[in-house]
Amino acid sequence: MTAVAEDPLALTRRLRRDDGPDLLFRPLRHADAERLAAFLEGLSPESRRLSTFDGYDLASARESCDAIARYDKLRLVLEEVPSGRIVGLLEISLVLHPSDIARYREAGIRLEATDCRFGPTLADDHQGRGTGTRVFPLVRDVAQRFGKKRIILWGGVLADNPRAIRYYEKQGFQTAGSFTDTDGTRALDMILDLASATAPVTARDAGRPLDG
Ligand SMILES: CC(C)(COP(=O)(O)OP(=O)(O)OC[C@H]1O[C@@H](n2cnc3c(N)ncnc32)[C@H](O)[C@@H]1OP(=O)(O)O)[C@@H](O)C(=O)NCCC(=O)NCCS
Repeated sequence: MTAVAEDPLALTRRLRRDDGPDLLFRPLRHADAERLAAFLEGLSPESRRLSTFDGYDLASARESCDAIARYDKLRLVLEEVPSGRIVGLLEISLVLHPSDIARYREAGIRLEATDCRFGPTLADDHQGRGTGTRVFPLVRDVAQRFGKKRIILWGGVLADNPRAIRYYEKQGFQTAGSFTDTDGTRALDMILDLASATAPVTARDAGRPLDG
């Protein structure tokens, strides 16, 4: 984590797009608080229902930026070039929550220290355009760099979120079980074995930003 904070370029990639501005995939930085707040504030009520954060304001964004390199969470963002607008937040937790371990155990899956959690959120105007699919090989690459072998969904995916379920299935995730959250909503647990995932980082998405 500290190494990432000290050398964010090591995980930075540029996604070239034909239908809009290029996107930079990079670790969240301390200086991002206001741009991250703009991203959170801009999420629609439906996006907030599907992807829940502790808050959607500057205070929450500051907390995320202050947490860089301090905990087990690695936050990556998608930044539009050259505007600098943050249009995606991709969160990876390198440690598991006891409730995840218990739920998966009930489903007959023993989670290990080599498993991590993943939760993606794109700005409303970037959803459903293939961006999540383009960026996933980069997420997988980050997980593998940290020695992870499987990825589970952070808090599962709501059963009434068909786009996200389809998205995860496309990336090779398999349903491990379902559960009812404290507020009565039904969610699915999904897991991806990185050894069985096929789509590599394409040459187009593999270069560092300064490679042009
Ligand atoms: C989930 C999310 C990260 C996916 O990224 P994305 O860029 O929108 O996904 P993609 O466009 O790459 O892929 C979506 C797939 O779902 C399909 N899809 C879209 N709407 C769908 C629907 N209502 N039912 C079924 N499939 C649907 C798309 O056709 C596409 O599949 P295809 O490529 O086979 O045609 C993004 O939509 C998002 O941030 N959503 C809001 C927050 C959220 O739900 N986060 C996940 C919380 S668990």
